[in-house]
Formats: sequence, structure tokens, C-alpha cells
Amino acid sequence: MSLTGVDLQKLAKDHLWMHFTRMGGYGTAEVPIIVRGDGCYLEDSNGKRYLDALAGLFSVNIGYGHGEEIGQAALEQMRELPFYTNWANAHPRAIELAAEVASLAPGDLNRVFFVSGGSEAVESAWKLARQYYLVHGEKKVRAALAEPENRHDSIVAAAHQPHRYKAIARHIAYHGTTMGALSINGINAIRAPFEPLVPEVRHVRNTNRYHRPPEETEAEFTAMLLDDLEQTILAMGPETVCLVHMEPVQNSGGCFTPPLGYWQGVREICTRYDILLSCDEVITGFGRVGYWFASERYDIKPDIITSAKGLSSSYAAIGAVIATDRVMEPFLESSSMYTHGITFGGHPVMCAIALKNIEIMKREKVMEHVREKEGIFRAKLETLLDLPIVGDVRGTGFFYAIELVKNKETRETFSAEECESLLRGYLSPALFEAGLICRSDDRGDPVVQISPPLVAGEAEMDEIVGILGDALAEASRRMTA
Ligand SMILES: Cc1ncc(COP(=O)(O)O)c(C=O)c1O
Repeated sequence: MSLTGVDLQKLAKDHLWMHFTRMGGYGTAEVPIIVRGDGCYLEDSNGKRYLDALAGLFSVNIGYGHGEEIGQAALEQMRELPFYTNWANAHPRAIELAAEVASLAPGDLNRVFFVSGGSEAVESAWKLARQYYLVHGEKKVRAALAEPENRHDSIVAAAHQPHRYKAIARHIAYHGTTMGALSINGINAIRAPFEPLVPEVRHVRNTNRYHRPPEETEAEFTAMLLDDLEQTILAMGPETVCLVHMEPVQNSGGCFTPPLGYWQGVREICTRYDILLSCDEVITGFGRVGYWFASERYDIKPDIITSAKGLSSSYAAIGAVIATDRVMEPFLESSSMYTHGITFGGHPVMCAIALKNIEIMKREKVMEHVREKEGIFRAKLETLLDLPIVGDVRGTGFFYAIELVKNKETRETFSAEECESLLRGYLSPALFEAGLICRSDDRGDPVVQISPPLVAGEAEMDEIVGILGDALAEASRRMTA
């Protein structure tokens, strides 16, 4: 059955419940229906082309043009073994992908637990951290019992370890939508409808420096952030916290890069209080900042990495939790296991697709391309700083945000009503109309987020900046009129 654009419109409105979408908002307007993609471009059901400067959802890292090759890998896997589970079983593609991911991940991040996406990865990381301390405690009790003199006080001490179950994340950070991941989320608007959430998460300051006092040095800023983290740990009770979960570069709020010394300080604090450090690399993993993992770029040394999106360039629904040998160690006791699993974790077809994606990334030298072009991309985007509405251009790799301000001198931001009319009333529809897909976002201060496929070249960068420049110039006029 081949449906026309008109049929699709009606069926979409009648049946398809879209995610994070004001479904009543369409009225007589058309639902955007994307029908095909190639390279960095998409085409809708009316034949109109768009430059996808968001790579789907920060995720189609190799672009849309590899369907044939990846489809062939999926087909071969379908023929050989369309499904089998990772529950007490293995199969070749999951083994190969786990080994490949371990070889790309920094340090001794060697243990790979597959899931179906980013939320599940975050959910699984928190569960892993909770159970890690339990299993670790049990191991200590067994060790104390096995001591030759069988000392009563060391057994009691081992058996009365407080339960570590709390997590710490950062304000305005997005980490997914399942209840655990949502609880880790720092965006009030998407948390509020679902409260009470999973106990207990507290949020610390993110690395947004744009609104800090201009006289504050980078070292002072770092010290302030680390002090906030440490004070929060102390207030929660360090012996009750199992996880600090943060993105190397925070997306939500607009590409907050870390100040100098920040990650080394976070690592040191986590080590000092014996808390597992988890890097959410759902966006930054697999090339977005020019490295397989941003943890490598910033030398973070996390205990856990959560990843998804770029692992398959979103050609498949697959994510992974990557843990160090140390985190897995207590689970290697013959009587213990990580009490967690999902049917589709490590699905063979998804693994075959992810393997092919990584092969393509290596062959096309995607990391090298991002590192070579990131400076050029940034310089092009920075020309937009000439516009009165553009306050800041920040980010790294192929991952940028442009913060929009009411007053460039004072860095005053727009009110909620002004954001509504600026972003939803004008900018988002205007950019879409002009054939550019990017995201205007006001989960923090208003920003335009730009995160194209990692195969984008200078022609695409010029097109992005050209369309953005025109739309933002018009936005400046409207907001000062
Ligand atoms: C940093 C981060 N973590 C987790 C998630 C959740 O991933 P998913 O939408 O695949 O569940 C996202 C999604 O955008 C994300 O950006």
C-alpha cells in the first residue's frame, strides 16, 4: 500500500501520538512528514528539502546516506540469526560489538552491557551503581567472615555499611524519560508532571559560565562548581550516595563545556567519597566532539559511560552501559549477578548495525574530519555574534549552541512570554520554512542548538550559518520593534 501525502496527514493526525508534541497544536496545519534522507539532507512528503543541522536528535552521526550498506549488514544478520537474547547467553554480534566498544572506550572501561537506548542506559547505570555497593558490601562481609581470627567488630562493620542509593546530576541536564532517568533529569518542566520521582536525586550547578560575573576567573568558577558538588554530597550524606551522573558537555541549556580543571576535580571528589562517576555520553559518544568518547578528550576517567544514539548513528535502537573492570569485579563472584535485563538488550540485528556503523566511521575517518573542521565550523558560527540578538556561541566539535539575549551588554535574557513568541512564534517555524532543521530551546536560557551529521562539510556549514543569519537578523528586528 502506498499512501499519498494527504492520506498520511490524516492518518498521522488520527493515530500517531508523537513524542514531546503539542498534538492539539496542528489544527489545520500540516504535521511535518519526513520521507527520505541522504547525507545531511532530509525530504518531506511535499518534496521539500531540509538541511538537518540536528542530525535527527544529535544522533545520525554518519548522515542519512548509508542505508544500503547498513541494510545489507542487517539483512545478513536477519538471515543468520534474527534474534537471540543476552540473558545467560551470548551470540557473535553482541560479543564482537562489546569487544569493539571496549577497544574504543578509554582506560579500563572494558565491560559492556547493551540496552535499547539512552534512557535505558541511564536507568541501568543508576541501578548498576546501587547494586554495585550492595554486592561490594556482601563481599566485604564474606571476607570478614573468612578472616582466620573471625573478628566480630570487622564483621559487624562490614554488615552495617549504609545503603548507597542516591544520585547527583546537574541543573537543566536532560538524561531521558523513564522514571529513573527522569529522576536524574534536571529539567523541572518535564519532571513536575510525574512527581514523586525515584528517591533521591539532587542537582548541582552546571558549567554555564555566560551569566557568571565577568570578573570571575576560570579557576574561581571551577572552584565554585566543585565546592557546590562537595557541599551537596556532604548534605546528602556521602555514605548514601552511589552515583554522580553528568554529560562531559551538557547539551540542555546549550552546550556547556567544562572549565579547566573541572573534570579532574569531579573525579577527585568522587574518588574521595567512594562514589561512582558516570559520564552520560549518549550525545557526546561516537564522534560528536571529535573523539570516540568525550571522556577521552577531557581525560575524565569515569567508572561508567552511558551511550546510545551515535553507537549506531541511530540506524538501530541500541545503547550501552560501559563499565570499568573495577565496577564489574564484585559481580564476577560466582554467586552474584547484576539483577537487570531487557529482552532487546544486545539484539543481534541492532549489534550488526552498530558494528557496521563503527566500521563506516573508521573508514570515512569521521573523528579526524570533526577535529580538522571544528575550528572552521566555530569560526563560521561566531560571525553570527555580529547580530544584536546573539549573545554567545559555545560548544566544541560538531556540537554548538547560540544563546539569544535581549541585551548584549547586560546579557539580560528574554522573559518566558518573549521566549514563547521568539522561539515558538517566530524562530522555529521560520528556520523550518527556510529549510533548516535545528532546535530552538528554552529549557534553560533561550538557545539555538546545532549538531549536524559528522560528515557535514564546509558547504553545509555555510548553508547553516546563512539561514541562521537571516532568521536571527529578522528575530532581532522583531524583538526590538
Ligand atoms: C544526554 C542524554 N542522555 C540520555 C538521553 C535519553 O536517550 P533516549 O532518548 O535514547 O532514551 C538523551 C536523549 O536525548 C540525552 O541527550
